[in-house]
Amino acid sequence: MTNEMLRLGLIGGGPGSFIGPVHRMAACLDARFVLSAGAFSRTLAKSRQQAARWGIPEDRAYDGVEALIAGERGRDDGVQAIAIATPNDSHFAIAKAALEAGFAVICDKPMTATLAEAEALAPIVVQSGRPFALTYTYTGYAMIREARARIADGAIGRVRKIMVDYPQGWLSERIEADNAQARWRTDPAKAGMGGAIGDIGVHAFQLAEYVSGLRAAELIADLPRVVTGRQLDDDCNVLLRFTGGVPGVLTASQIATGERNALRLRVYGEKGGLEWCHDAPGELILRWPEARTEIIHAGAPGLHSTAQRATRLPSGHPEGFIEAFATLYADFADMIEGSCGAQGLLPGIEDGLRSARFIDCAVRSNEARTWLSLPDIAR
Ligand SMILES: NC(=O)c1ccc[n+]([C@@H]2O[C@H](COP(=O)([O-])OP(=O)(O)OC[C@H]3O[C@@H](n4cnc5c(N)ncnc54)[C@H](O)[C@@H]3O)[C@@H](O)[C@H]2O)c1
Repeated sequence: MTNEMLRLGLIGGGPGSFIGPVHRMAACLDARFVLSAGAFSRTLAKSRQQAARWGIPEDRAYDGVEALIAGERGRDDGVQAIAIATPNDSHFAIAKAALEAGFAVICDKPMTATLAEAEALAPIVVQSGRPFALTYTYTGYAMIREARARIADGAIGRVRKIMVDYPQGWLSERIEADNAQARWRTDPAKAGMGGAIGDIGVHAFQLAEYVSGLRAAELIADLPRVVTGRQLDDDCNVLLRFTGGVPGVLTASQIATGERNALRLRVYGEKGGLEWCHDAPGELILRWPEARTEIIHAGAPGLHSTAQRATRLPSGHPEGFIEAFATLYADFADMIEGSCGAQGLLPGIEDGLRSARFIDCAVRSNEARTWLSLPDIAR
C-alpha cells in the first residue's frame, strides 16, 4: 500500500442519484482514493452542480466519459481510474472507452445490459491489461467473506443445498412515471434483458456462487411480470443445479410488498449450515445437528483474515453498506497498486460474464418453460 491516494473519476452519480454518491463515500472511506473528476450527468450544468457540492473544480466536471478522458489525459494530476455508476445501457460503451484509454475500471452491476456486450467486453478487458472490477456490494461484507472462508475450509462439509432470497417491495405499484430509478429499471432499452432478475437477481446469483465456491450449471426460471403493464419481470423464481448436481433455489422480487432489501443466503452442508441476512450483516449464523445454533459477529477474535481485512471497527460497532462497498474499493486500490491483498476476493470480468449468462439463461428458460444449461466460465 502506498501513501499516495489514487485519483478517481466517476461517471454517473448526479443530483438525486442512488449509487454514484455511495461510490464516492466508499472510495474515499479508507483514504485510498480521492474523487478528482467526474461526468456525474450527461447535462453539464448538473454535472457541475454535483462537482461543486463535492468540492471538485468546475473544469473537472464533464458531460460524458469521452469529455472526461479528453480532459483528464493531458493533466499531470489526471484521474487514474474510472468508476461507472450509470444505468445499465451505458456500462459497455463507458467501460470500453475507459479501458482502451488505459484507465483502471470499477463498474457497477450488471456489468452490461446484454450478453453480447458482456462477451464483447471480456476480450477488451484482457487486451487492455488494466484492472477491472465489479461492485457486487455484498461480497464486501466481513461475514460474507467469513462464510466463504469457512465453506472453503470444510467447516460445514460438502455443500448439499443453497437457498438465496432477495425480496424488495418498492416496485409493488406502477411508480415508474414519477420515479427516475424505477423508470429506467423497468425499461428494456435502459435496463437490458432482465428486470428484477438483472437488477437484484444477479446479486443473489453472484453471492451464492461467491460464498459456496460452486458454479451453477443448469436452471429453470419463472419470471412473471406481476404489475400490469410492465415490460420486464418484477418477480423471479429460479431452481438451480450447481456443480455436482447440488440443488439451489433463488428468489428475487421487487413486488414483495413491505419488504425493503432483505437479501438472505443459506448454505447447507453434510455437517452443518450457515445463514447470512442483510438485515443483520454483521452476524453469521452457524447451524449444527441437533438444532444447535451459533452466532458469530464481525470484529470478534479468531475470524478469518479475509473477514478481518473487511472490518474497521471493534465488534458491536455496526458497519454496513458503505463500509462493504469501501472494502471493494480497498481491494481495487490493491489491484491497481499490484499488491496481492485482495486475494481473488474482488469480483471481476468472470463474475460479470457469469452473471450475464445467468440473466440470459433465466430469461430464455422463462420463455421456453424449460431447464437450460448455463455455459461454464472459469472463476
Ligand atoms: N452495487 C449495488 O448495490 C447497486 C445498487 C444500486 C444500483 N446499482 C447499479 O448502479 C447503476 C446506477 O443505478 P442508480 O440506481 O444509481 O441509478 P440512478 O438513476 O439513481 O443514477 C444514474 C445517474 O447516472 C447519470 N447518467 C446517466 N447516463 C449517464 C452517462 N452516459 N454519463 C454520465 N452520467 C450519466 C444520471 O444522470 C444519474 O445521475 C445501475 O447499473 C444499477 O444497477 C448497483
